[in-house]
Amino acid sequence: MHLELNPYNPGSGLPPRVMGGRQQEMDAFDLIVARTKRDLPNRGMVLSGLRGVGKTVLLNYLRSHADNHGWFTIWLEGKPEAQGFTEVREKFARELTSAARRYNGPSGKDRLREAFGTIQSFNLALGVPGIKADISVSANRANSGTIDIDLEELVEDVSLALKADKSAFAIFIDEMQDLDQELLSALITVQHAAGQRGWPFYIVGAGLPNLPTTLSEARTYAERLFTYRTIGPLADTDAHYALTRPAKEMGAEYSQDALDVLLDASGRYPYFIQEFGKAIWDAAPSTPFTEEDAEVAVSIGRSQLDAGFFSSRWGRATRKERGYLRAMAHDGDAGSSTSQIAERLGVKVTALGPARAQLINKGIIYSPKYGQVAFTVPGMSGFILRQQED
Ligand SMILES: Nc1ncnc2c1ncn2[C@@H]1O[C@H](COP(=O)(O)OP(=O)(O)OP(=O)(O)O)[C@@H](O)[C@H]1O
Ligand SMILES: [Mg+2]
Repeated sequence: MHLELNPYNPGSGLPPRVMGGRQQEMDAFDLIVARTKRDLPNRGMVLSGLRGVGKTVLLNYLRSHADNHGWFTIWLEGKPEAQGFTEVREKFARELTSAARRYNGPSGKDRLREAFGTIQSFNLALGVPGIKADISVSANRANSGTIDIDLEELVEDVSLALKADKSAFAIFIDEMQDLDQELLSALITVQHAAGQRGWPFYIVGAGLPNLPTTLSEARTYAERLFTYRTIGPLADTDAHYALTRPAKEMGAEYSQDALDVLLDASGRYPYFIQEFGKAIWDAAPSTPFTEEDAEVAVSIGRSQLDAGFFSSRWGRATRKERGYLRAMAHDGDAGSSTSQIAERLGVKVTALGPARAQLINKGIIYSPKYGQVAFTVPGMSGFILRQQED
């Protein structure tokens, strides 16, 4: 097939040409927007799931939806390293400034102008200069230097300005499990305050499967503040649609056998659907795609995944951490008990604490429950078992 017409898009956060499924999450968010228009209260939303299931893509979709409804939106991405903490704050300040410039609600616009001073001083408190020189810094708002207080004052001033337009202030946060404790706690606290006082302010977060636990550990009441949604592999019909529809739009078809092979190999994971779809398009001499084309595509797709999706994570692990991951790989993707890993490696569980903590910090594994660890990347165990010892 013509390479330049390939309609698939494997990659981190890359929007698919055709989005399969996720209707429930879209509807749930649409309901928040509709209720906000009527001044009714809502919870924030948290999406969690393994790597490559489509969290970033979905979060982007929800943000565009909010933007289309005239919301004041900003986008943050958690970063695990200490240097990342500063970057996130800088991004916060810049996003606030640009959202304030973009905002065009008929009534809230003037009130938001009054809140500009608060935004300005909040930005300064984060160490980033704000909007423009002719707007003065608010003398007594969002300038205490304590992020809890400053964030709350900022959210109060901005969201009350938007209330006049039945709009809302939303912070979309990707890789939310990687936010630093200080900012994370401050955000949850302000979501709590907003709910109690009727401010239209929502956090919409996405992250790894341990995100709900991370939130509850930061603030116990976080459990009640958000609607939690697990994002997993697509349902059969949605996976079928995500695979066949892009090809159809470009004039190509799959034979039933080809479809069966690819859907089975993909495990209905969105990232794999894109990778195998891309591979069959590039490898097939003509349409309809045959079973043989599909088998070739699975082998090309797998080597692409090995070279990128899996190896980018593997490459970040130290020698010792790789030993830990190898010991986990024997249990497949289902997860392992930490005591069993220690037994396999012939050491005490406590001796493995640092490697385990580092792998969690790097987002390669997570702890589904006490004494257990599992890969965040579907198919990682198979990849590891294919690797030579080094
Ligand atoms: N609903 C969907 N239908 C079809 N393809 C999708 C869907 N969602 C995501 N994809 C595709 O899957 C791939 C991964 O998506 P995305 O980066 O959003 O996953 P993620 O869950 O954020 O992964 P990570 O945890 O690594 O950040 C992309 O190539 C994207 O185009
Ligand atoms: Mg992502």
